[in-house]
Amino acid sequence: MGPFQWTPQIAVGNDHIDGQHRRLLELANEVAEIMATNDYDGILKALDGLLDYTRVHFRDEEEILRQFGYADIDQHIAKHHQIIASVDFAWRQRHAMTGEELFLIVRDVILRHITVVDGEYRQIFG
Ligand SMILES: [Fe+2]
Ligand SMILES: [Fe+2]
Repeated sequence: MGPFQWTPQIAVGNDHIDGQHRRLLELANEVAEIMATNDYDGILKALDGLLDYTRVHFRDEEEILRQFGYADIDQHIAKHHQIIASVDFAWRQRHAMTGEELFLIVRDVILRHITVVDGEYRQIFG
């Protein structure tokens, strides 16, 4: 068990999205685990995997929200774009940061999004 746990409270009610959110938390746990070893290259590799999967997830989620006719989809997509822009920016600065600093940025923006902001569209699956 890592520090990030999926709980029913963060379920949005769509199996595909909930499965991807679980996977994102697992990937974040893997990064946290490697963090403890101070293996900087390993940390970067694990973070890169987390960021790649985040892109896949955002794309899939946007497609599902479109299929379900979510009214605030444009606003939600804009939030995804902001996250990608800020993690890309952090990623480009990665050599000036410790693995931990980089992870904190990624963790804050991505995990806050899936555990709080994604809850805003939950009602479309109700
Ligand atoms: Fe999401
Ligand atoms: Fe989202």
